Amino acid sequence: PRPILLTRHGESQANVRGRIGGDTALSGNGDRYKKKLANFVEKRLSSERAASIWTSTLQRTILTAGPIVGFPKIQWRALDEINAGVCDGMTYGEIHKNMPEEYESRKKDKLRYRYPRGESYLDVIQRLEPVIIELERQRAPVVVVSHQAVLRALYAYFTDRPLKEIPTIEVPLHTIIEIHLGATGVQEKRYKLMD
Ligand code: G3H
Repeated sequence: PRPILLTRHGESQANVRGRIGGDTALSGNGDRYKKKLANFVEKRLSSERAASIWTSTLQRTILTAGPIVGFPKIQWRALDEINAGVCDGMTYGEIHKNMPEEYESRKKDKLRYRYPRGESYLDVIQRLEPVIIELERQRAPVVVVSHQAVLRALYAYFTDRPLKEIPTIEVPLHTIIEIHLGATGVQEKRYKLMD
């Protein structure tokens, strides 16, 4: 069965500063990851001529996929990170301090909490539907380079996790989660390419 490879973008400049959202480039670590990822993908999918690489429209995923050659790349807005609305670019500490009610509401119900002028996890899950339909239709492997909140939702869908777990699923940086959808269920392998 064809694999689906899920990975977050390499560490971004916003990650280093603890800021959510934004559209920053990669950090030094992120730059190292994109090379390791390209190596891995080119080896892993060397015999898979019809494979494709899907990214979001944010530069950290496009840059992460940059060094991968030999496969078509497709950008999906639906793979963009959860929109943090008025909190975009803030640290969690700043949200806690400046918007304590927002911070508490999110803590109480992270799945349903919608950032002012932004999205909730439920919104993200809903906008992923066309991506999921297209992923299921693919006969060839797909590498999805996206973001933490989005990958939590995709991973949960393919591995049948309950909705309420989605906002806290671990999707570490610099790790490829390979999922095989087979008749007998789902199999998963993880490749940690660096710390
Ligand atoms: O920038 C957003 C994060 O990737 C989502 O993390 O939903 O745990 O705050 P969070």
